[in-house]
Amino acid sequence: MSKELKSVDYGLEKIFEGAQDFLPLLGTDYVEFYVGNAKQAAHYYKTAFGFQSYAYKGLETGSRDTVSYVLKQDKIKLVLSSPLNSESAINEHIVKHGDGVKVIALWVDDARSAYDETLKRGATPYMSPTVEKDEFGEVVRSGIRTYGDTVHIFVERKNYKGVFLPGFVSWQSDYNPKPTGLKYIDHMVGNVGWGEMDTWVKWYEDIMGFENFLSFDDKQIHTEYSALMSKVMSNGNGRVKFPINEPAEGAKKSQIEEYLDFYEGPGVQHLALATDDIIETIKQLRARGVEFLPPPPQAYYDEIPKRLGAHKHLLKEDLNDLQQLSILVDADEEGYLLQIFTKPVEDRPTLFYEIIQRMGARGFGAGNFKALFEAIEREQANRGTL
Ligand code: FE2
Repeated sequence: MSKELKSVDYGLEKIFEGAQDFLPLLGTDYVEFYVGNAKQAAHYYKTAFGFQSYAYKGLETGSRDTVSYVLKQDKIKLVLSSPLNSESAINEHIVKHGDGVKVIALWVDDARSAYDETLKRGATPYMSPTVEKDEFGEVVRSGIRTYGDTVHIFVERKNYKGVFLPGFVSWQSDYNPKPTGLKYIDHMVGNVGWGEMDTWVKWYEDIMGFENFLSFDDKQIHTEYSALMSKVMSNGNGRVKFPINEPAEGAKKSQIEEYLDFYEGPGVQHLALATDDIIETIKQLRARGVEFLPPPPQAYYDEIPKRLGAHKHLLKEDLNDLQQLSILVDADEEGYLLQIFTKPVEDRPTLFYEIIQRMGARGFGAGNFKALFEAIEREQANRGTL
């Protein structure tokens, strides 16, 4: 291969032909977390990850039940919401799951059609099409339920010029730490229960017109102790990718099982955030206190040239820099990728983040699964949950 590899957002191409386009998705709109203390969580995402203050609603804006902080970094929008009283429906979610993802919102051109088309195919409704208005125009949102208590909300904002959504005001803050180079959400992974992966694969195929674009079975994803299975679902234009994991039998407890125990059911396991300079991004994140999984052994780095194969001479990064920051490297036919995983970002061992830089590769780091899962197992052993 002679072409030079560049960091790419491969989401802009169509990755398979013939995908049903009854649900055209323009991309991820926002991800909403239900958390115990949104004010403090917002501080963490600003300080540690470099997210920028973007929008707000709360008592000052007339929202009596819920407070929400919206944070933005390039294309990524996170919403952190907390209840303001015991009546709010958010409480139930937090009591059961701890802090976690409630909404994966998808940007569409027509939220009514998205709702009608998915309901027609068997989706369970969450929110019928709702028009919200203010002086900047109107937004239409609708929503359906997916695995666990997680939901998809379809956001139609073509007639809206305000910040975020009606009801929110621009959030001006004197505290504005610099961004860390995070650009967009590459993929979002769901953990589902024993034997439920294929049910949800079919759900994404039937209800949302996604296709299964990569699969890993427990023979590929296992260590001495534990195993899992994973299938990657993608929408037609490749902008939205949802890998789905289920636990598999092993000598000890699968990390997916640990998640299901502590989240008390299926939910979002990790968000993969893309950067085009992972070395600089990880230096920043480490300096700001983000905790990553412990490094793989020396042998892992010794084997990297072999793993890169034909792409070896295209590796732009210094292997010593990668090793020093514990960044993992994998390759497929089309290029290579660099990735690293945080520890869980809340006290329950549930949601974590992946930081990823794609240099042509479209995979998900299958060559790193063993090293990654061994690192997770060492953490599980420390928690007494292996
Ligand atoms: Fe991932």
